[in-house]
Order: sequence, then C-alpha cells, then structure tokens
Amino acid sequence: MRVLVTGAGGQLGLDVVDAFAEHEVVGLSHADLDVAQEPAVAAAVGDLAPDVVVNAAAWTDVDGCEQDPDRAHRINALGPWWLARACERTGATLVTLSTDYVFSGPPERGPDGRLRGFDELDPVRPLNVYGRSKAAGEQLVRETLAAHHIVRTAWLCGARGGNFVRTMLRLGRERAELEVVDDEVGSPTFTRDLARALRELATSGRYGTVHLVNEGRCSRYELAVRALELARLDTPVRPVGSAAFARPAVRPTFSVLDTRHARLSGLGPLPDWEQGLADLIAELDAPPTA
Ligand SMILES: NC(=O)c1ccc[n+]([C@@H]2O[C@H](COP(=O)([O-])OP(=O)(O)OC[C@H]3O[C@@H](n4cnc5c(N)ncnc54)[C@H](OP(=O)(O)O)[C@@H]3O)[C@@H](O)[C@H]2O)c1
Repeated sequence: MRVLVTGAGGQLGLDVVDAFAEHEVVGLSHADLDVAQEPAVAAAVGDLAPDVVVNAAAWTDVDGCEQDPDRAHRINALGPWWLARACERTGATLVTLSTDYVFSGPPERGPDGRLRGFDELDPVRPLNVYGRSKAAGEQLVRETLAAHHIVRTAWLCGARGGNFVRTMLRLGRERAELEVVDDEVGSPTFTRDLARALRELATSGRYGTVHLVNEGRCSRYELAVRALELARLDTPVRPVGSAAFARPAVRPTFSVLDTRHARLSGLGPLPDWEQGLADLIAELDAPPTA
C-alpha cells in the first residue's frame, strides 16, 4: 500500500510516518507541500498515486486562528477539500484529522449522572475560529469524497512537537510553582497510540466520522500533576480557573469525546490516558537513538 502523509513535520505526522513504516510511505512536510494550494495538492496526489492519504496538516495555533480567520479557513477547511478532490480523481482514500473543538457545551448527563462525552452524532457547535475552520473542513470532505475517514481527536501530545505536556515539563523545571486550569476537561491523546489506530482504520473500508482518543478523561490540572509526577518533578501545581488566563480564543470547558463508533465497531480501544502519558514520558527520557 502506498501512503502519502501531509503535515509530516508535525507531532502527529511524524508518528504517522513511523506507524506506516511497513508500507510504502511518503511524508511531505509544510515546506514540501502547502495543502492550501490546490494545484500543488492535485499534482502531488496525481504524481504519487497513493492508495491512502493521511492529512495531518493543519494550522493548530488556536489563538492565531482567532486573529486570522481567512488563513485558518484556507489551511483547515480548503486544505482537506483540495485533498478530497484529488483523492476523488485518483481513487485514493483520505484520512483527515479533526478536533474536539468542533463541540461546546452544555454537555448532557448520561443515565449514570456523569457528564457524557460528545459522540459522533452530536451536532457540532464550535466556540472559536479554529473549531469553525475544522468543522468546515469536515463538511467539505463529506460532500466531496465517499472514501473518507474524518477522525476527531483531542489534546494531542507527542514526543516531537509542541504540546501541553511538554510545556508543563519545561515549566516544571524552570519555575518554583505552576498554575494550571482545572475547568477544562477533555480527552488527552498520545500521537503514538493514535497513529497506530489510524493505520488500522485506513485499511478498514469503514468510511465516515469516528472519534479516536485515549481512554478516560481529566482536567488540564490533573494532566499536569500526573505528568510532573511521572517525570519525578516535585514542582507544586495550583489549580486555577481559565478566567485567570486572558486568551484571544474561547476554549470549551468540557470537550470529552465518546468513542462510540470505534468501540462498537472493534477499532481500538486506545490505552488509558495515564498509560499513554507514561509511555510518552518514557520516550522523552529515552536516550536518542543514533
Ligand atoms: N494538537 C492538538 O491538541 C490537536 C487536538 C485535536 C485535533 N488536532 C488535529 O490533529 C492534526 C495534527 O495536529 P498536530 O498536533 O500534529 O499539529 P502540529 O504539530 O501543529 O502539526 C501540524 C503540521 O501541519 C503543518 N502545516 C501548517 N500549515 C500547513 C499547510 N498550509 N500545508 C501543509 N502543512 C501545513 C505544520 O507545519 P508548520 O509548523 O511548518 O507550519 C505542522 O508541521 C491536525 O489536524 C489538528 O487540527 C490536534
């Protein structure tokens, strides 16, 4: 199977290229292919003739998107559309990533009284420009290409990239105390685990929208505390409300994803988030390979 990965220099893209190593995989970074340029996308997909395209390219700067909605739309909405159009012409399958930020509350309680995660059938209601641009990308892909997998994921953390866990570890080494929001609850997801599940999904032939996140849920505060513990850092962490941090983009306070489709169709499950976090910290601690 020939696989083309876009956004291959990003934290997920790097791990996707590794996960597909047993196949013929071509990773194109932003410098190699700008997904916002339709002629370049058409040429790359046409020339490489992949069986599967995994689109890990996106503008993920949530506050940056708020300040430049057209750029967000070009990359996060039109980019997947150009890829879907190219895949439609060549007969390729498209796996494209979306986000928990297409949702916002108010969340509902399940029969057990617990807030229930958003499942694949919940209506999207993005709170910020990034979420709107990603929801638009989803819609354009659905309207264009039957052979698509739209994968919503959340709170991504990998060993090679900027993310919440790596920031907390750095700040934990630099500062005497950390303040972390405890009123954002979500589904931490680790790119190694997600990349393996994408490989499974890409050959399943079961097209549509699916949520893929590590099992369990936590607040940003709980994630930071556990990350520091696992890294053996004893920096105190103080829980604070998100109102303490003024940022351009509003974030949902609850964006847990329920993995109903994956669970009931035999895909996954991904490991519990604490296991994924432990694996990430071990990978960060491991001496670099030559
Ligand atoms: N990070 C999260 O917490 C999170 C949560 C939910 C869903 N997701 C989704 O998961 C996917 C992967 O995210 P990630 O965390 O791996 O993000 P990332 O580390 O920011 O990687 C995204 C990559 O896309 C590249 N890129 C940006 N604009 C591009 C363009 N016009 N053409 C081609 N490449 C471009 C970036 O390159 P440059 O940096 O060089 O511009 C970067 O290498 C994205 O679809 C994202 O929306 C992420």
